[in-house]
Amino acid sequence: METLGIHHLGVAVADLDEAIETYRRLFGAELEHRDVVPDQGVEAASLRAGGSRVELLAPTADDSPVGKFLARRGPGMHHVAYEVADIRAALAELAAAGAELTDAEPRQGLFGLQVAFVHPDSVHGVLTEVVSRV
Ligand code: CO
Repeated sequence: METLGIHHLGVAVADLDEAIETYRRLFGAELEHRDVVPDQGVEAASLRAGGSRVELLAPTADDSPVGKFLARRGPGMHHVAYEVADIRAALAELAAAGAELTDAEPRQGLFGLQVAFVHPDSVHGVLTEVVSRV
């Protein structure tokens, strides 16, 4: 699979407002988008830091994926997202290469992106997301 680069790093946080303020204060990051996604049990903020992007994820329910992650591991790095030009082609190539896909098909992600996740067992423990803008 060919990537255009890292689209964002996903970070699980307990308090979204506090985390946004931390990234602003420490790294001069600027808020790009902020959204609540009820069916994913998450409130998310996309921040630009120079030419890079950080996605902060706060759970809106304890039994959501991010809520469970926080309960199990505490706040911290959650996933790495790679941007691709064609997400369906990327998923086909990943599957052919033996990667375990959490999402066999692209789905609507945050902020209008098409996304799919690759299981961390296939990427040395790192939950990995592929993202396309279309
Ligand atoms: Co993400």
